[in-house]
Amino acid sequence: MKIFIDSADLEEIKAANSLGLLDGVTTNPTLIAKSGKAFAEVARSITALVKGPVSLEVTSIQWEGMLAEAHALRKHGDNVVVKIPMTADGLKAVKALSAEKIPTNVTLIFQPVQALLAAKAGATYVSPFIGRHDDIAQDGMLLVKDIVTMFRNYAVKTQVLVASVRHPIHVIESAKLGADVVTLPLKVIHQLIRHPLTDAGLKTFLADWEKVSNKSLT
Ligand code: G3P
Repeated sequence: MKIFIDSADLEEIKAANSLGLLDGVTTNPTLIAKSGKAFAEVARSITALVKGPVSLEVTSIQWEGMLAEAHALRKHGDNVVVKIPMTADGLKAVKALSAEKIPTNVTLIFQPVQALLAAKAGATYVSPFIGRHDDIAQDGMLLVKDIVTMFRNYAVKTQVLVASVRHPIHVIESAKLGADVVTLPLKVIHQLIRHPLTDAGLKTFLADWEKVSNKSLT
């Protein structure tokens, strides 16, 4: 399962990238706004830093505008994946971009058939938002399970990119279901690394080593 960071903050992306485990980046207009920087500057910096796919989102509502934006976004790098909202116009844009072999990530997927339609249009990735489901007392993981099952039934090549991830259990469940990618806030990436028993165990090992190290022969 590939691990992307869901961020437009360059320091966060650098920190995740320095672990050597980062496969790509996803952004959205909210994350760009949160970065406090101009979009072009953010896009240029991220695509230069990360070799893997970088999702940059269009903000046009009409498909013609989405196409124009897609072509402009791709100027930031060959690793740019054009993020398109799950709307009728979005599907038209995905179909056209797919014919041009431009990779796309269809975002704001909240029910399984939306993912199937996006795949039929030729999307490279579909992004089910699981945390936002959980936020309103619906089971976000069920959405992933349904999409993965449907894609397997028809050997669909579109990758399932699990988005709106809130905690490590979402990551474990995504991997158990066979999702292709999870995109994670930096906080969740750190949560995946740490365990209190690892910390406690290491503390004990180091304290015990301290007692004997000066007696050691090597
Ligand atoms: O980038 C899309 C998605 O991951 C947003 O997550 O936390 O705003 O629901 P969130």
